[in-house]
Amino acid sequence: MSERVIPLVDQRIASLAPPPAAFSAGTRIAATGLLTDRLGRPLRDLRISVTDRCNFRCNYCMPKEVFDKNYNYLPHASLLSFEEITRLARVFVAHGVKKIRLTGGEPLLRKNIEVLIEQLSALRTLEGEPLDLTLTTNGSLLARKARALKAAGLQRVTVSLDGLDDAVFRTMNDVDFPVADVLAGIDAAQEAGLGPIKINMVVKRGTNEHEILPMARRFMGTGMVLRFIEYMDVGATNGWRMNEVLPSADVVKLIHSELPLVQLDPSSPGETAERWGFTDAAGQYDPRLGEIGVISSVTHAFCQDCNRARLSTEGQLYLCLFASKGYDLRSLLRGEASDADLASALGHIWQGRSDRYSELRAAMPPDASDGSPRRVEMSYIGG
Ligand code: GTP
Ligand code: 5AD
Ligand code: SF4
Ligand code: SF4
Repeated sequence: MSERVIPLVDQRIASLAPPPAAFSAGTRIAATGLLTDRLGRPLRDLRISVTDRCNFRCNYCMPKEVFDKNYNYLPHASLLSFEEITRLARVFVAHGVKKIRLTGGEPLLRKNIEVLIEQLSALRTLEGEPLDLTLTTNGSLLARKARALKAAGLQRVTVSLDGLDDAVFRTMNDVDFPVADVLAGIDAAQEAGLGPIKINMVVKRGTNEHEILPMARRFMGTGMVLRFIEYMDVGATNGWRMNEVLPSADVVKLIHSELPLVQLDPSSPGETAERWGFTDAAGQYDPRLGEIGVISSVTHAFCQDCNRARLSTEGQLYLCLFASKGYDLRSLLRGEASDADLASALGHIWQGRSDRYSELRAAMPPDASDGSPRRVEMSYIGG
């Protein structure tokens, strides 16, 4: 095995200020819902990271060697308060955001997260509809918290689950956490009405690929949507190598050989997953059996319609999962900025966006360095 270089990180990297034009009389941008970036992409989806901590150490995200007891997590004063998050979220919604996802780290580790959910669930889109309000979790605290989350106004959850075999699962989370507890969390979420539940499985060749079929069988016909995610080169610490990526096409082929599939149309523009439905004896999609998804950010980039923005735990705005710099919105929040100033800043930042990392990465030779400065960690801006 070739040696891996795992650089030390401090994820608090230089941040950018919003363009000064945002605050000059003649060039201000008001929130209209019509905002688009330089590639014509609207802003529809906001992912908010509420903590940079996690109780798991998935090797592809927070490897133990880096995220050890000496790691400097953000101090409490750096985190956006719930009021600050909600104020910013309102500005994003005024610009056309319809979906908000809470992430981490592990979002259920943030104290009183239900209070934030209550505040966010009161927001309305420009059309007067409730937001699609969801949360991505490792499921470890879900059995305890599912009912309170639902009561606070959360609509649904996505649970990460990298295998059903207890030994494989314990290896993937690297803290010896038993799979049974996550499965109990998923049951609790279903009972609480936090559906339709999505299950995310990151596939690493040579580590959990033999869990693909058992996972497909387990979730077929349950109303839950299992998605297989290609192991990505996010961040700077996971020692990513192309030969550990199992292309989604192989995942589909493998499942199709046992449980025949047909491709389904996308359910919304800019969707990350390609959908495949289980079929009946006549080879037709059978909605009772349900569907799987494959998320192919390495082999089949989906930047073209990417309408996602990410807000870090300390209020930096990232325009791409692979960005190396974020825009400092916290200074505005904690300074003199009005809501109209925040809206104008966001308008200018989004209008200047041209990020499309996965597309550019696909054009590079395998295992090449993309030559960009160190990228932000996924545990800091969330999935
Ligand atoms: P739903 O609204 O529940 O359908 O969410 P989603 O389809 O946006 O999926 P989710 O947020 O669960 O994301 C699933 C996984 O896809 C993430 O954990 C990431 O691994 C990957 N992913 C999500 N968004 C992006 C993105 O913008 N770029 C890339 N490259 N990968 C992404
Ligand atoms: N590759 C793909 N997905 C990742 N996630 C974190 N790190 C990676 C990576 N390197 C995603 C997984 C997980 C969510 C919290 O973040 O989907 O379920
Ligand atoms: Fe934690 Fe999710 Fe990252 Fe695993 S993938 S370390 S559960 S934030
Ligand atoms: Fe969006 Fe960046 Fe992911 Fe492309 S790589 S889909 S631009 S977040």
